[in-house]
Amino acid sequence: MKARPVLIVLFLVSNITLSSGFVGVLAAAASYVFNRFFERDGLLPFDSKRLEADLNGSLFGQHIVSDVVLKSVTSFMTDKNPNKPLVLSFHGTAGVGKNHVAKIIARNVYKKGENSKHIHTFISEHHFPHKEKSDLYSAQLKQWIHGNVSSFPRSMFIFDEMDKMNPQLIDIIKPFLDYNARVDGVSFRNAIFIFLSNGGGNEIAKVALDFWKEGKDREEIRMNSKGLETKIFQNIFNDKNSGFLHSSIIDHHLVDHYIPFLPLELKHVRQCVLAEMVHLKMNRDDDLADKVAKEMPFFPAEEKIFSVKGCKSVRQKLVLQTDE
Ligand SMILES: Nc1ncnc2c1ncn2[C@@H]1O[C@H](COP(=O)(O)OP(=O)(O)OP(=O)(O)O)[C@@H](O)[C@H]1O
Ligand SMILES: [Mg+2]
Repeated sequence: MKARPVLIVLFLVSNITLSSGFVGVLAAAASYVFNRFFERDGLLPFDSKRLEADLNGSLFGQHIVSDVVLKSVTSFMTDKNPNKPLVLSFHGTAGVGKNHVAKIIARNVYKKGENSKHIHTFISEHHFPHKEKSDLYSAQLKQWIHGNVSSFPRSMFIFDEMDKMNPQLIDIIKPFLDYNARVDGVSFRNAIFIFLSNGGGNEIAKVALDFWKEGKDREEIRMNSKGLETKIFQNIFNDKNSGFLHSSIIDHHLVDHYIPFLPLELKHVRQCVLAEMVHLKMNRDDDLADKVAKEMPFFPAEEKIFSVKGCKSVRQKLVLQTDE
C-alpha cells in the first residue's frame, strides 16, 4: 500500500512549510486523506443493496422497520449535504430486534461494524445511574458528542433504554440534532443518532393484535396504521416514566422517524432459532427449532400469539435443548 510514502511526503512538506502558515491546511488534508482511505476503522463505501440484503436475510418479522431503515439510511448516506443528522427512534416490546437493527446499520456503515470506535453507546442505567449527578452527566455527554463529531463527523450515537433516561439529559443533545446544526464551529449534519426504547411497545402490540383479530395480514400494517406513529410519540411524550417526557426533541420534530417494531410470532422465533443454529455451527434441525420456539412464553394469555421476550434468550434455550 502507498499510504506511508504519501503521508511521509505530506508530513515533510508540512514541516518545511511550517513558517508559511500552510501547516494547518496540510495537516487537515493529510488527516482527511488518512481517514478517508487508510484508516482501518473508517467508513465502508455505502451500498444500499448490501444493506437491503442484510435486512432481508437477518431481520425477521419487521417489514416496517426494514422498509423505513433501508430508505432513511440510504437517503442519508448518499446525501452529500444533509441538512440535519439522521435521528431514528426505535420502539417495541422486549427482544424484537432494536439493538439487532442498530448493529445491522453499524456493519453497513463502518468497516469494523458494531466494534467501530466511532459508535458510542449509552445505556442510561449504566452510564448515568445517579439522578443527582445530572448536571455533571449533561456536561460530559455534551463534550463527548462534540469532541467525537469534530474528529469524525460520521459518528454514531446509540442511546439505549431511553425510557429510563433522565429527560434533562435528552434535552442536552437537542442542539446537536437540529437543522443545520453547528455548535462551536462543528457541524453535526453527518452524525447518526439512534434511540432505543420499550416506550410505545404496548400500543404497537395492540395494533398488531387488532390486525390479527380482524383477520388481516401482519404485512398490511403500515407506519401509520391506526395512527401508530402518532400514538408512539404521544405515548412517550406524556409518559411520566419516559426519558422523552415533554422532550423538546419531540416538540421540535427532530426525530426523523419513530419506528415501530412489531411483536414477534411463533414463526419468527423459529427463524431466530434456525439463525442461532447457523451461528453455533450446528446442523439445521427443524424439529428442534419448533420445539425451542414453542417453549417460549406467548401473550395475550388467551390467544398466545406474540412472544413475550421476542427472540431474547433463544440461544440459551437452544443450548439447553442440545445438552439433553
Ligand atoms: N426481528 C428479529 N429478527 C432477527 N433476530 C432478532 C429479531 N429480534 C430479536 N432478534 C435476536 O434476538 C436478540 C435480542 O434482540 P435485541 O437485543 O435486538 O432486542 P431489543 O428489541 O433490543 O429488546 P429490549 O427492549 O429488551 O432491549 C438479537 O441479538 C437477535 O439475535
Ligand atoms: Mg435492547
